[in-house]
Amino acid sequence: MTDYADRLTFACETALKAGELALGYFNNLGALTIQSKGVQDMASEADINTEILIREAVAAAYPDDEFLGEESNESFVPDPDKGTWIIDPIDGTQPFVNGIRSWCISIAYFESNKLRVGVIYDPTSDELFAARSGGGATLNGKLIHASAANSLGDGLVCMGYSNRVKPEDTLGPLERLMRADGMYHRNGSGALSLAYVAAGRLIGYFEPHMNSWDFAAGVLLIQEAGGRTNDCLPDQQTMIVGGPVIAAADGVFDELEKVVNDD
Ligand code: IPD
Ligand code: CA
Ligand code: CA
Repeated sequence: MTDYADRLTFACETALKAGELALGYFNNLGALTIQSKGVQDMASEADINTEILIREAVAAAYPDDEFLGEESNESFVPDPDKGTWIIDPIDGTQPFVNGIRSWCISIAYFESNKLRVGVIYDPTSDELFAARSGGGATLNGKLIHASAANSLGDGLVCMGYSNRVKPEDTLGPLERLMRADGMYHRNGSGALSLAYVAAGRLIGYFEPHMNSWDFAAGVLLIQEAGGRTNDCLPDQQTMIVGGPVIAAADGVFDELEKVVNDD
């Protein structure tokens, strides 16, 4: 039985290489070519070339694995007999292209309907968050734990939003969070914020819709750090369509879920 330790090592090494490439672009933003993919949606040559680096590394190390990356997701056809690497080459593209240091590389591995490996790397602070199913979660090699908070009044909750959903889908939960003595936070990178929940820096995260490449690595990190999430990746089909993400410290999850669902 595989314990996925080899794939975790590979994901960490690849995230560091990808981070070095992306950081080079970030440190020279004036030269960056940016394409619009729609309203509030863009891809720079940094996103595209970082994804190519990761895709080529996967193809060389694990040629039989499937690959789902944000910048090439249209060509993905799931195969139930294979494991899949789920990649966001740069999560937090808006902060990235505007010179704000909240973006990351997100690499996850999914096999037999379960997340097995999750790695998030923030090159601007050289923070590497890593988790393997059943193996705990670490930050730069040291074990991390979700917050011990017991109430929404005990810390910050990230509320993510994208124009894939209606404003009301976020505004209702946001108002209820405030009325429950909660405090919202948003840094423009959903994946990095999920890693912060795993590390106990944020006590929760909610977004009405995320794509699998935004949340896959972060969700495993939170589960392995003792936090809780909704069942956001139950099958291969969800990899393509995505869905809502609720994640929090164990003592806060039920309260956050009520705030989200208004019950
Ligand atoms: C986005 C960011 C954002 C989240 C969106 C994502 P991108 O990803 O994670 O924080 O709210 O749902 O699409 O476009 O920066 O890779
Ligand atoms: Ca993303
Ligand atoms: Ca992205």
